Amino acid sequence: MTTVGIKTVLRFLVSAVVVFVWTSTASSQEDVKIGLVGEFSGPFADYGQQMFNGMNAYMKQHGDTIAGKKIEVIRKDTTGPAPDIAKRLAQELVTRDKVDVLAGFGLTPNALAVAPVATEARKPMVIMNAATSIITTKSPYIVRVSMTLPQVTQPMAQWAARNGIKNVYTVVSDYGPGLDAEAAFNKAFTAAGGQITGSVHIPLKNPDFAPFVQRVKDAKPEAVFLFLPAGEQGIAFMKAYKERGLAEAGIRLVATGDITDDGVLEAMGDPVVGLITSFHYSAAHDSPENKAFLKAYADANGTKLRPNFMAVAGYDGMAAIYAALKKTNGSTDGDALMAAFKGMRIASPRGPITIDPETRDVIQTIYIRKVEKVNGGLYNVEFDKFPEQKDPGK
Ligand code: PHB
Repeated sequence: MTTVGIKTVLRFLVSAVVVFVWTSTASSQEDVKIGLVGEFSGPFADYGQQMFNGMNAYMKQHGDTIAGKKIEVIRKDTTGPAPDIAKRLAQELVTRDKVDVLAGFGLTPNALAVAPVATEARKPMVIMNAATSIITTKSPYIVRVSMTLPQVTQPMAQWAARNGIKNVYTVVSDYGPGLDAEAAFNKAFTAAGGQITGSVHIPLKNPDFAPFVQRVKDAKPEAVFLFLPAGEQGIAFMKAYKERGLAEAGIRLVATGDITDDGVLEAMGDPVVGLITSFHYSAAHDSPENKAFLKAYADANGTKLRPNFMAVAGYDGMAAIYAALKKTNGSTDGDALMAAFKGMRIASPRGPITIDPETRDVIQTIYIRKVEKVNGGLYNVEFDKFPEQKDPGK
C-alpha cells in the first residue's frame, strides 16, 4: 500500500472511532434512568406494584420522552421491610446501572436506609410513600410527593374532637409512621380538649390482632384511633374488630385512610361501611384530574387493581421528575433537579400539591371521608376538608 493509501485508511479508522465514541456517549446522554426501589413481593407486594402502575400510567399518558431525553425505569424488589436489601439495591442502581434518580420506597425503614446513598451519590430520591415525618431531614436530596403521618392524622384528631368524641384509645403499628401518628393524634386531640385513655403498639411483621383488639374492648373507650400500614393488615384488623364485637359494644373507630386503602377496600366488605378516615387521596375524588388519572391507570395497567394513594404518588412523582427535567433542559445534575423540585406545584389527581421549598415535603389538602357503597362498590367518599396542610412535625 502507498503512503497516501495508509494515511487514508488511518484517517478513516480515527474518524470511525471518533464517531463511535461520540454516538455511544450521545445515546447514553439521551436516556434518563430512574431506579425504582420498591416492595414487589411478600405481604407488601402491592406497594411496589401500585407505585410502578402509577408511573406507568403517567408515561403512557405523556410519552416516554421529556426535554429530548428518553425515560427508563429500572425496578428493584426489596421483598418487604428490609433496609439492608434496599440499601444494597440502591447502591447497585447508582454504581452499576448509573441511574439519575432514585424513586419508590413504600416502607419507612427502606427509605431511611437509602438516604445516605442518595446524599453520597448526589442523586434525587423521590419518596412515593414512606411517611414518617423525619425521612426528608435525612438527606438534602430527598423530595416527598406522598404524605406524612402527622399531616394526615392531625385533621382526624381535630375532626373527632369537634364531633363529640371525648376519649380515645390509640392503636398503631409499632414503627416510625405508627409512632408519628400516635404522637400527632395525642397532641392535637388533647389540645382540643380530648383525653387519651390508653395505647397499644402492634408489631409490623406477622401481627395477630385479636389480643390487641380484646385489650381495647376491655378498656371501654368511646372511640379508637387506628393507624396500620395499608394493605392486608387492614383486612385482618377489621375481621378481628368485627369478631370481638367492638362496634356492638358501642366503640367508634376513626383512622387514617391507610386502613381503607382503595386497593383492598372492596375485599374488606361490609364491616367497613360507615368508617371515617382522614387522607389525601380517594379514588372517588371528584375532579377532572382524577378522572383522567383513573382512565390512564386502567388503560396502562388493566382493571384488576384499583389505584390507591401509592399509585397517585407514583404518577405525581413521575410528573415531578418530568417537570424538573423540563426546567433543567434535560440536565440530570442532582443539584439542578433538586432546585427544580423546590416550590413545584402539581395539579394532582388528589387536588393541588406543592413541594415545600424549605422542607422538600408535600403540602396538600387532607380530606375527611366515609366508606359508602357507590354504584355497588365500596368507596371513601370525601365530605370535609383541611386545605394546605404542611407536615406539622416540622
Ligand atoms: C411507611 O412505612 O412509612 C408506611 C407504610 C404504609 C403506609 C403508610 C406509611 O400506609
